[in-house]
Amino acid sequence: MSSAGTFRVCETGGPPLREALAEAVALPSVLTTMLRSLIEAWPDEVYTRPLVTTRFLGQRTTYVCDPQLIRSLIVDQAGALERETFMLRALAPALGSGILTADGPHWRGQRRTAAPMFRPDRVRDFIPAMAAAAHATRLRWLGRTPADARAETERDLLPEMMRTTFDVIVATMVSGDSRLEVEPFGRAIDAYLGQTAWKIALSMLRAPAWTPHPGAGAGARAAHYLRSEVARTVARRRDRGEPGADLLGLLLQARDPETGERLSDEGLIDNLLTFVAAGHETTALALTWTLRVLADHPAVERRVLDEIARLGADPAADPEAVERLAFTRQVVLEVMRLYPPAPLIVRRTAAEVRLGDRVIPAGESVHVPVYALHRHLSLWDRPEVFDPDRFAPAPTASRDRYAYLPFGAGPRVCIGMGLALTECLVILATLLPAFRFVPVRAEMPEAQFRVTLRPKGGMTMKVVPRHVR
Ligand code: HEM
Repeated sequence: MSSAGTFRVCETGGPPLREALAEAVALPSVLTTMLRSLIEAWPDEVYTRPLVTTRFLGQRTTYVCDPQLIRSLIVDQAGALERETFMLRALAPALGSGILTADGPHWRGQRRTAAPMFRPDRVRDFIPAMAAAAHATRLRWLGRTPADARAETERDLLPEMMRTTFDVIVATMVSGDSRLEVEPFGRAIDAYLGQTAWKIALSMLRAPAWTPHPGAGAGARAAHYLRSEVARTVARRRDRGEPGADLLGLLLQARDPETGERLSDEGLIDNLLTFVAAGHETTALALTWTLRVLADHPAVERRVLDEIARLGADPAADPEAVERLAFTRQVVLEVMRLYPPAPLIVRRTAAEVRLGDRVIPAGESVHVPVYALHRHLSLWDRPEVFDPDRFAPAPTASRDRYAYLPFGAGPRVCIGMGLALTECLVILATLLPAFRFVPVRAEMPEAQFRVTLRPKGGMTMKVVPRHVR
């Protein structure tokens, strides 16, 4: 939980002049906090109250922390909401106007066109590619010689998991013909996300879009690199003349079921890059936090290992076994409660919305602070405690569905949810029986908002092979 929220709660309005002066004085420290991690700027009340409104520099932001109000907002009144300016400023230079960043009819058409690609039967077809990527990581960690295979090696698991999920996304999206290279691509994503904290903070502080900031040049170069690499991939596939059976192939052939239209080349690039960026980073974070949390909870890890062994869950040999890993799935869900890879859902009101007896006019920011919702004192018993049994069938059935939103909800719910969960299970079922993970530092790394929720300073652990043949 944040120790001292930077944004103050505004209930009454307050005397504007005094408030404006106080804000001007506070500006440097607000900026510093937002750059460190936006979550620290949230008022503490987001962990205890249903609805919290703050005002800063004349801009009101309402944090919605009550499950039924969240449902009312992002499901029932979804049509009155649009993408928030600061998220667009942060993401659109790289992702263009794809499913994640578009609004209105342009979004709806793309969502309808892409939705069939993420159906459960399609996801199941991708399990062998996921298993192959996980196996490649296993071999990489075991090294080349028997001595390597016995060695304990310190590794930062964040880039390791990024590489694994990148391999999965490349294999499932652009199998066979890809020349996307994991390291430069990963570096470009890091450079890009690294400067989004500035873009978000400056946009929230109402600075114009052209305001210079550290990392802006590197961010622009990274966006250019990412887009041109993906554009080349699309062009290579078009030249081949045959679409292929992977997600790019499906996207190339997909038609909007209502209009019959296909995606333009620009639309293909926007969405392919969206899937690569949104898909591999978030899933890698879920896995990185999971490996660390399991290392801190050996009894839970034992239950996971027993389940994998009992079901003989070798995802490469038996894709369906993955779906039976019920407890392992609970573990991933509970880790994403504590460390939601997407910790904030933001919207701007395009028209007036009503939340209970509160009316929010058009043009205001509404936030669902997922990280705080998942630790809210009125929703969770001992919220800071890791307990995967919270996600057993009975407690899940008795909990409000909108109290837990790692993938969002409503029309803009994550399109890759099924893919991501299956991928986490496949990778865990491959790596956990092969390695123990030992944290090199006792304290958990700080969770830092970078659009996603990253462990500050990475997640270095000793990777210890369990069996040496
Ligand atoms: C653990 C992994 C993942 C997490 C936690 C996650 C989380 C989320 C969340 C919270 C949203 C909703 C954002 C909002 O309402 O503003 C979202 C949207 C989205 N996600 Fe994911 N995601 C994950 C994996 C994936 C994967 C694997 C893909 C694709 C390959 C993907 C593609 C998308 C797209 C395209 C959207 C935008 C949907 C729309 O606006 O219609 N995500 N994701």
